Amino acid sequence: MIPVLPRVVVVTGASGAIGAALAYTYAKPGMCLALQGRDKGRLEATASRCRAQGADVFVCEMDLREARAVREWLEAFDTAHPVDLLIADAGVANVLEDLNQWETPAAIDEVISTNLLGTINTVMPLAERMRVRGAGHVAIVSSLAAFRGMAISPAYCASKSALHAWGQSIRPLLGATGISLTMIYPGFVKSSMSDAFPASTPFLIEASQAAMHIRRGLDAKKATVIFPAILWLGIKLLNALPDPWADSVMAFLNLSPKGRS
Ligand SMILES: NC(=O)c1ccc[n+]([C@@H]2O[C@H](COP(=O)([O-])OP(=O)(O)OC[C@H]3O[C@@H](n4cnc5c(N)ncnc54)[C@H](OP(=O)(O)O)[C@@H]3O)[C@@H](O)[C@H]2O)c1
Repeated sequence: MIPVLPRVVVVTGASGAIGAALAYTYAKPGMCLALQGRDKGRLEATASRCRAQGADVFVCEMDLREARAVREWLEAFDTAHPVDLLIADAGVANVLEDLNQWETPAAIDEVISTNLLGTINTVMPLAERMRVRGAGHVAIVSSLAAFRGMAISPAYCASKSALHAWGQSIRPLLGATGISLTMIYPGFVKSSMSDAFPASTPFLIEASQAAMHIRRGLDAKKATVIFPAILWLGIKLLNALPDPWADSVMAFLNLSPKGRS
């Protein structure tokens, strides 16, 4: 069966690597894109390329932690251009360099409020509209970090794990009104986020490759998109071990902060 492709797409985090790469896969004549980010220069760069590829593009510089502003923006956009697909991609990470460090309350707050609440702030207004229309597609970018806590980024892993649980929870609620949900769990992808990761990044791929994986899954309306398969398999094996053993494997693979100096 030929998939019915979306015409109006919202991408958050479009000023970042994965969000921009995803926007490029949709940008062509006849498409209407709403692109969100905070950095004006990088957001405009994404928008310019999408316009050059023939899409109608609307940009919004916004902090997704501002729930009311996010709702006002999305409701206004959806009224003018009923949204077929929302890709909630924006996110932030906090990492520890070594075992002497400890996450600050401010860093934890930023990560949880952006990755969990910022995503919920984005999904809720459009999901409410889509439920009334009885159609639509929501995609949420979590991470493979949802499935294995890492000492290098406790709040990040917790935020992505919470998103995983939230997505699982709302899937039947969305499905009951004809809305698809795709949960996305990337491994390491080249971006400013992975560049700042102070440990090994096994099976790192380019953002354009990640976007291709995601796009294929979205076109097929898959419930789950997880990549790369080898890292996902590794995490499943790791989780079958007793935790102290799994911690040792993580340290051996240089996926932990450096030891106490
Ligand atoms: N890169 C990886 O290895 C990897 C792996 C698994 C999952 N992911 C997930 O993939 C998504 C995209 O990450 P990326 O690798 O493309 O990183 P990135 O290049 O750093 O992009 C992150 C995007 O999120 C936006 N953002 C961050 N905080 C925000 C806030 N409070 N309000 C609004 N926008 C905010 C950024 O906007 P500005 O830059 O304009 O501030 C940027 O557009 C994230 O959810 C990340 O957790 C990434």
